Amino acid sequence: MATIGTDVLKAKAILEKGNLVAIPTETVYGLAGNALDVASVTKIFQVKNRPSFDPLIVHTNSLERASSFLKHIPDMAHQLAEALWPGPLTLLLEKQSNIPDLVTAGLDRVAIRIPDHPMTLQLLTQLDFPLAAPSANPFGYISPTEAAHVDEQLGDQLEYILDGGPCIVGVESTIIGFENSQPWIYRTGGTSIEQIEALIGPVSVQSHSTSNPKAPGMLKSHYAPRKPLILGDLPTLIQQHAGENFGILSFDQSFDAVEPEKQIVLSPSGKIQEAAQKLFGALRMLDKMPVKFILAEYVPTNGIGKAINDRLKRASVQL
Ligand code: TXA
Ligand code: MG
Repeated sequence: MATIGTDVLKAKAILEKGNLVAIPTETVYGLAGNALDVASVTKIFQVKNRPSFDPLIVHTNSLERASSFLKHIPDMAHQLAEALWPGPLTLLLEKQSNIPDLVTAGLDRVAIRIPDHPMTLQLLTQLDFPLAAPSANPFGYISPTEAAHVDEQLGDQLEYILDGGPCIVGVESTIIGFENSQPWIYRTGGTSIEQIEALIGPVSVQSHSTSNPKAPGMLKSHYAPRKPLILGDLPTLIQQHAGENFGILSFDQSFDAVEPEKQIVLSPSGKIQEAAQKLFGALRMLDKMPVKFILAEYVPTNGIGKAINDRLKRASVQL
């Protein structure tokens, strides 16, 4: 198992040797390595068992440093970065040749963001290279939102997990790119569409696709627990499956017909941000419960709710 600790200098030393460290961010934990070093980036793909066609997000600590990896930053992207970085927003922008092709899976654009976590910002400030970091989970499984989640699945392949506590946003960053100066959201996430539109006007949202995805995080089946998850109207589903062995994931209410220990309520007070924070941990818990399958419901679609529903849909067996 990996050592779990809060020693930023230790993390720095391991990364400088070309090895990997799991790092906290405000969204989910990342599996980080030197983004400018092909050997380090190769290790990321190996540890995650990630196909090499699925590119990685580059993390840095200032807009100035970000610029040094980009051909140019269009006005809209600049506005978003100024207003929302550090934060859960990833920009897809044309890369310079200092970013290895392996990071972008051969694409011209690199995904880049400044994460909003004090420990990781401190680490990035002290390093003289940016960090490539996908979510620190085996490919296709639920993203980790606590150091212990990382340790459970990747611990024996990692030297060190930098423990920054539970992630406060709880779902991955929103990914936005520009095609002919038109903004496109490729993945809904921690920055809401409302926040983005307030800054740059209307944006389009790319719908899911299984073939040739622009962002494989868009693959229909992703972020998924091992147990089947059925999404729908919970009272109806509970009736349909009476007598069967299931667990429940609800937004704000519990159900008398089901044993309390088989239910997880994301936010009893109906707060959408709290629901996002708890989502992935709850899916992990349900995966471990002695139940055969999971029944879940959509949450309200305001703010981060859209990203929660997107992850639930991809975790489900209904697509
Ligand atoms: O919040 C987050 O974004 C977290 C934390 C660790 O920063 N990272 C994360 O990384 O979710 P990952 O690798 O699990 O998901 C990144 C998504 C993938 O769907 C990938 O396909 C897409 O971003 N992506 C990365 N680079 C891309 C590129 N150059 N063009 C298109 N999509 C890209
Ligand atoms: Mg991921």
